[in-house]
Amino acid sequence: MKDSPVAIVTGASRGIGRGIAQELARTHRVVATYRGRRDAAESLREETGVEIFQCDVSSAADRAALIEFARARFGRLDLLVNNAGIAPRERLDVVEATEASFDELIATNLKGPHFLTQLAARWMLEQGRGRIVFVTSISAYTASVNRAEYCISKAGLSMSAAVWAARLAPHGVLVFEVRPGIIRTDMIARVQQLYEERIAGGLVPQRRMGEPADVARAVRAIADGLLDYCAGQVIDADGGFHLRTL
Ligand SMILES: NC(=O)c1ccc[n+]([C@@H]2O[C@H](COP(=O)([O-])OP(=O)(O)OC[C@H]3O[C@@H](n4cnc5c(N)ncnc54)[C@H](OP(=O)(O)O)[C@@H]3O)[C@@H](O)[C@H]2O)c1
Repeated sequence: MKDSPVAIVTGASRGIGRGIAQELARTHRVVATYRGRRDAAESLREETGVEIFQCDVSSAADRAALIEFARARFGRLDLLVNNAGIAPRERLDVVEATEASFDELIATNLKGPHFLTQLAARWMLEQGRGRIVFVTSISAYTASVNRAEYCISKAGLSMSAAVWAARLAPHGVLVFEVRPGIIRTDMIARVQQLYEERIAGGLVPQRRMGEPADVARAVRAIADGLLDYCAGQVIDADGGFHLRTL
């Protein structure tokens, strides 16, 4: 693994990020970040040998410390996966939803990855190469009236990905957006039963809920360079949810 490429995966202690870190650990030296669940991050480290690092992506100091850690430890960065994200603490009708929740989601889901990417981009511009993935959501274009702040944060993140893709492509740094559909993780645990029923009823053409590994395979294709003439590509890892049918 001595000269193998280096990846940072944010929010890798659980869920989709963990699946991505597990997949990448087969070929990359991985810095897997977590926010509060050190126990989960440690179990990932034991299982895969990744480095773990505590980083709240909404904190500028934490973002800078993460990049410094990767620089000091490995001296190169081949792939940044902006995966960390949160759902609203409470699903509230947009008529009732609070500014505090809006601010929290924008800081974590949009501002954090946008500015973490700025730090990574400066480093990758020096290197003249690199790849960056933004994990957004079907919520980037699907309006849910009981979690508007989540949808708005993901719609904004989709544009952040496009801006970075356009800015960095001339310099050999490729940016991609991966849009998961409904994926079995802690994030959707409270609504899992409802979603299972809607999927069985036809909401997802492939008729099953996604797993973190489904998203991880899309990131694998990017990490392996299979999409290297596809700057800015949006990959719908959603079982066909995005298809309009009549
Ligand atoms: N599950 C879905 O159906 C679905 C669908 C579309 C998009 N997504 C997106 O996929 C990404 C991962 O979601 P998931 O379902 O895997 O969520 P999850 O199971 O709740 O895991 C979230 C991960 O993000 C970390 N995290 C939370 N807040 C953070 C912060 N402020 N700074 C840094 N890390 C933070 C958590 O760390 P700790 O373990 O330390 O708390 C955890 O590792 C999110 O961006 C989400 O919006 C999910």
